[in-house]
Amino acid sequence: PIFSIMEDLRAKFEANKQGHLFTFYDKLSESEKSTLLEDLSSIDVAALPTMLANSLELEKAGGGDFQPLKSLGSVINTDKATVDAWYKKGLEAIGSGKVAVILMAGGQGTRLGSSNPKGMYDIGMPSHSSLFRMQAERLRRLQVIAAAAAGAPSVTIPWYIMTSPMTYHPTKAYFEAESFFGLSPAQVTFFNQGTLPAMSEDGAIFLETPSSVVRAPDGNGGIYKALEVEGVLADMAKRGISSIHTYCVDNALVKLGDPTFVGYCLEQGADCGSKVIPKAYPQEAVGCCCLKNGAVSVVEYSELPKEKTELRGDSGELLFSAANIANHYYSLSFLQRMATEFPAHVAFHIARKKIAHIDLQSEKGEKVTPTAPNGIKLEGFIFDVFPLAEKMAVLEAPRAAEFAPVKNAPGSPTDSPDTARAMLSAEYEAWIIQAGGMLTGEGLVEISPLLSYSGEGLEALVAGKTFTRPLHLKKEEEAA
Ligand code: UD1
Repeated sequence: PIFSIMEDLRAKFEANKQGHLFTFYDKLSESEKSTLLEDLSSIDVAALPTMLANSLELEKAGGGDFQPLKSLGSVINTDKATVDAWYKKGLEAIGSGKVAVILMAGGQGTRLGSSNPKGMYDIGMPSHSSLFRMQAERLRRLQVIAAAAAGAPSVTIPWYIMTSPMTYHPTKAYFEAESFFGLSPAQVTFFNQGTLPAMSEDGAIFLETPSSVVRAPDGNGGIYKALEVEGVLADMAKRGISSIHTYCVDNALVKLGDPTFVGYCLEQGADCGSKVIPKAYPQEAVGCCCLKNGAVSVVEYSELPKEKTELRGDSGELLFSAANIANHYYSLSFLQRMATEFPAHVAFHIARKKIAHIDLQSEKGEKVTPTAPNGIKLEGFIFDVFPLAEKMAVLEAPRAAEFAPVKNAPGSPTDSPDTARAMLSAEYEAWIIQAGGMLTGEGLVEISPLLSYSGEGLEALVAGKTFTRPLHLKKEEEAA
């Protein structure tokens, strides 16, 4: 039967101008032959031309009409009592077990220059915690605060970690080796997003080896399909989850499960939400939350026309200033709806990349490594669903407490481990001052996430005391 499977598949691929993927077929071993056939069977080759054409068209169309957001909630410009009420509402939802958190960690993190999953990266704080550890410990602390507020013995926040086939095994192995950073293994679920073949500009799929195609994760927008296919939505329903916070792995200040943001979205009756911060400067490399053809959307910095980014209002404020920090909120029912509706709407974004591949002309299938972009990868973006929301909530929060991105290699002037370290240290320092402590000397300041999630609960420990930098404040149990 392998012969007829091969013949059928080959005919289908040839009919769709992908017959070249069989170039080395006759020279493959039997097991390599089945590897290739299995790989090719998972590609919807007949759908690719339309997908590519739609995506190229979207790219050419360049977006549409962009306008600044008309209204948004703000932690910065709202009275403390109201913000506290949002926080309390969110904490109650967490305390009653209704909130889950999803981490997007399927990206390949090529810019940072590390081959491990990005979350394993140590930005060089005194604790040498990885990004994953910081996040896990913040989650543990949030569970403690929520339990105390609810008067419950304990609270569990399910943590779903989206990986890609490229990051799944190393990520899982790392969590296991670190004993899940003190979380219960049962609350942590890893799930895989899908992949798409990489291709030349005219749509010819590249070979990675003579018996497999080049693949890349389908973008963080792959989350919607993956949540359904991997059984995560069903698991959430079973656990009684109704609100979900998603965030990306590379923000060292991320407040995963943020009660204020969750509470704000609940209060708004939103089915989808996004947390933004004021842009640092017009050309900052962040997506911008704005109105696109009338609907709340995020437009990547590469897609927002430069003249728009520079526009200012009467008092000199940037009009397109809502920077997307990839913190999103969903109701479970919205995610359930997106599992079926989003794939139908999808037009992918095109990333032009250097894609190493097998030279079809070479005798034995040698690899070529291009020095300039030679092909495209298709990526869905997580925020592409925003226009499908019935009630979209946008909440602005202060940058210093929210965003320390780790994107570029050490030494880079922006968004690097160095800049993230400085921001983290400055924020921790602000917590100490706010709680009545003082600091002297030089160096970094770090507060264990197990002690404080967002600055709370430090008074007894620091008020009236002077600490010498470098400082690493931690719980007694950690000191051991
Ligand atoms: C992202 C946002 C951008 C925002 C910036 C803030 C998107 C598409 N863009 O940009 O608007 O200003 O963060 O830091 O969200 N990922 C996957 N699977 C993939 C690709 C990415 O899980 O296939 C994850 C990454 O692991 C990461 C996150 O998505 O956690 C964002 O990754 P990336 O594609 O690098 O987007 P940015 O350029 O950082």
